[in-house]
Amino acid sequence: MERKTILITGSTNGIGKATAKALAQEGHFIIVHGRDKLRTQAVCEEIKSATGNNNVDMLLADLFLLSDVKRMAIEFKKKYDRLDVLINNAGAVFGKDRETTKEGLEKTMTLNLFAPFLLTELLLDVLAKSPAARIINVSSAAHAIRSEPDLGDIQLEKNYSFIRAYGLSKLYIIWVTRHLVAELKEKGLEHITANSLHPGVIASEFGKSSNIKFVSLLTKLMRPFLLTREQGAETTIYLAVSKDVENVTGKYFAKKKVAKESIKHYSPENEKIVWDYCKKIVEPYLSN
Ligand SMILES: NC(=O)c1ccc[n+]([C@@H]2O[C@H](COP(=O)([O-])OP(=O)(O)OC[C@H]3O[C@@H](n4cnc5c(N)ncnc54)[C@H](OP(=O)(O)O)[C@@H]3O)[C@@H](O)[C@H]2O)c1
Repeated sequence: MERKTILITGSTNGIGKATAKALAQEGHFIIVHGRDKLRTQAVCEEIKSATGNNNVDMLLADLFLLSDVKRMAIEFKKKYDRLDVLINNAGAVFGKDRETTKEGLEKTMTLNLFAPFLLTELLLDVLAKSPAARIINVSSAAHAIRSEPDLGDIQLEKNYSFIRAYGLSKLYIIWVTRHLVAELKEKGLEHITANSLHPGVIASEFGKSSNIKFVSLLTKLMRPFLLTREQGAETTIYLAVSKDVENVTGKYFAKKKVAKESIKHYSPENEKIVWDYCKKIVEPYLSN
């Protein structure tokens, strides 16, 4: 087996942690990303002792801050000279009131869209060094919510609801992933693939960042009927290492198969608007 270097955001918990553990079990070099040093160290130790694979390292960043995403990308390049698989897994749903980060950006869009967009842009040069690199963006079936996108108000200043913010962030990450494929082609980087996925409905810590009682109650009540974290990791793992998808790019997956994403609001023009908007948001963090 060829050992891959794999960075997984949000791998201190939930689906990300299960993904990290399973890929470490297969013998890959895993970089666990977290935002709390002690917790991230503890997860690395847990993965090492559970799998017997000592090739597990860590990086820290608060993904609410694009400046911290940039700092982490710089640190990545100081420590490692190659990246085969980037898994943008971290994501969350937030509360009933619109909140902004210290950098003034809407929280849901920041964590679920701008941070993965920026991290991908900043790590493209190291991904390009891999003979066959893969970018995997964890989206959600919630992208298909019946909420009309307002592309003049991507950060939902006028019409925020937590479901709308979450669903649209997961719709836009699918569009951005698809657009990335065209960008990679234009840059002559067709050896890098990019796909998005829905992991299933999983019993994880998902919903903990929401102050909406209904969300925590629903996740508690549904817990016995939900898939496990390990099951939630299956499609990500498949996209990360399976030979079946070696040359598959620009697709949306569920249950380890190409799935149909919602095309209700899709058009190449809309895709480009969202891409350009993300590019504008991350622009200040792109230069060295
Ligand atoms: N669970 C589901 O049913 C479901 C369904 C569809 C899609 N998804 C998607 O699957 C992905 C993983 O979710 P999950 O269910 O595993 O949720 P989870 O258990 O809450 O894990 C989320 C991970 O993201 C990290 N994270 C959150 N905010 C962060 C920040 N500001 N900076 C750095 N890391 C941050 C968390 O770190 P901490 O441990 O520090 O909080 C955690 O490691 C998400 O993108 C989610 O939208 C989940």
